[in-house]
Amino acid sequence: MKVEIRAIQHQDAAGFCAVLDAVAKERKFLLTLAAPPVDRIQKFVDNNIAKKYPQFVALYDSQVIGWADFIPSENPGLKHSAQLGMGVIKQHRGTGVGKLLLGKVTQAAIDYGFSRLELEVFANNSAAIGLYKKFGFTHEGTKRNARHIDGVYIDSLVMAKIIS
Ligand SMILES: CC(C)(COP(=O)(O)OP(=O)(O)OC[C@H]1O[C@@H](n2cnc3c(N)ncnc32)[C@H](O)[C@@H]1OP(=O)(O)O)[C@@H](O)C(=O)NCCC(=O)NCCS
Repeated sequence: MKVEIRAIQHQDAAGFCAVLDAVAKERKFLLTLAAPPVDRIQKFVDNNIAKKYPQFVALYDSQVIGWADFIPSENPGLKHSAQLGMGVIKQHRGTGVGKLLLGKVTQAAIDYGFSRLELEVFANNSAAIGLYKKFGFTHEGTKRNARHIDGVYIDSLVMAKIIS
């Protein structure tokens, strides 16, 4: 079965929520430790669709297995920039899904008109850092001891890509 990458749709919210929850519960990759309730996710998805913010899902056998989005802040001074969120469920990692998702969402963010694409990634997340470098994101700085969970401090890297 082939992986399909497409823009998120209203009915994908529950599947997206389940993937976000599964990745969050691994406790290694995201700040959040569980997905918000599905009704909040539904509002988030519907708002992104209405505002045409770039948000894509990866589907395998009609099931959501990953997502990627670039969402801007509502702050007037930050509307030129958007923050990346992405994840792929564990069983489907390392098979090219992340590359497909990031390629699509980055192109959509450029087409939208954002001039700064940014993200934060934990310093020990070498898979994600490798992927981001491949797409031209560069390291801007390090937030030391940015996260403290399960008794462990972890640095966070700020990475960005400027669109000129
Ligand atoms: C980061 C993530 C989205 C990458 O998706 P993926 O489908 O596993 O990645 P791909 O198979 O498309 O690989 C893309 C590139 O990532 C890098 N990469 C992937 N797995 C890697 C690993 N285990 N070690 C080092 N680099 C790796 C490579 O550069 C790879 O390119 P290549 O295959 O040409 O060498 C995925 O690992 C994931 O969901 N991780 C957990 C959630 C997460 O970290 N989200 C981001 C938080 S900032």
